[in-house]
Amino acid sequence: MSDRVLIRNAEAADVPAIAELHARVFGPGRYARSAYRVREGRRDGNPLSDFCHVATRGNRLIATITLSDVKIGGVPGALMLGPICVDPDFAGQGYGRQLIAEGLRDAQLAGVSLVILVGDEPYYGKLGFKLVPPGQIALPGPVNPMRLLAYPLKDGAIEAAHGLVTSA
Ligand SMILES: CC(C)(COP(=O)(O)OP(=O)(O)OC[C@H]1O[C@@H](n2cnc3c(N)ncnc32)[C@H](O)[C@@H]1OP(=O)(O)O)[C@@H](O)C(=O)NCCC(=O)NCCS
Repeated sequence: MSDRVLIRNAEAADVPAIAELHARVFGPGRYARSAYRVREGRRDGNPLSDFCHVATRGNRLIATITLSDVKIGGVPGALMLGPICVDPDFAGQGYGRQLIAEGLRDAQLAGVSLVILVGDEPYYGKLGFKLVPPGQIALPGPVNPMRLLAYPLKDGAIEAAHGLVTSA
C-alpha cells in the first residue's frame, strides 16, 4: 500500500467509507449532532457538497470533512462544517487542519460568506474560527453557545448572520 496521503474532493463512491468512519468515530450518537440535524431537511438525501474532502492512503479513507450549504435566517451563502473526522490511527498528524484549510479555500473561491460549526473552541480557534455572539444564530436542537463558532470569509459576515440555520 502506498504510504502517501492524498487529499481530494469527496466523490459519491466515497460515501460508504465516509459513513463507516463516522459510525466508527462517533457511534450511534452521531445522528443527534447539529450538522446531521440541519441536513435532515434535505430532499435528495445526498450528504456530499462540492466542498467535502477526503484524505486517503492507498485504498483506505483516513479522514473526511463534510460542509453543507445552509441558509441563516433564510439568507443563503453560508456553509455548515461537520462532521470532520480523522481515523484515530492518523490523529494528530495535521490531516484535520489540512481538510479544514481545503474546505475554507474552496468556500472562499466559490464566494461563500461564512462557515459555521459546533465544536471545540480550543481546536478551531487556533484555525481562525470565532465565537458567535450568543443568541445571534440558532440551530435545530439545543447547542452550547460556547461551541457555536464561525469563520468569516467576507468582512462583517459574522455580524450580518442572524436567525435559524436551515439546509439550503
Ligand atoms: C478533532 C479532529 C478532527 C482533529 O484532527 P487531527 O488531524 O487529529 O488534528 P490536527 O493534526 O489537525 O491538529 C492536532 C492539534 O489539535 C489538537 N486537538 C485535537 N483535538 C482537539 C480538541 N478537541 N480540542 C483542542 N485541541 C485539539 C491536538 O492536541 C494537536 O495540538 P498541537 O498541534 O498543539 O499538538 C480529530 O482528532 C477527530 O476526528 N476527532 C474525533 C472526532 C471529532 O471530535 N470531530 C470534531 C467534531 S465534528
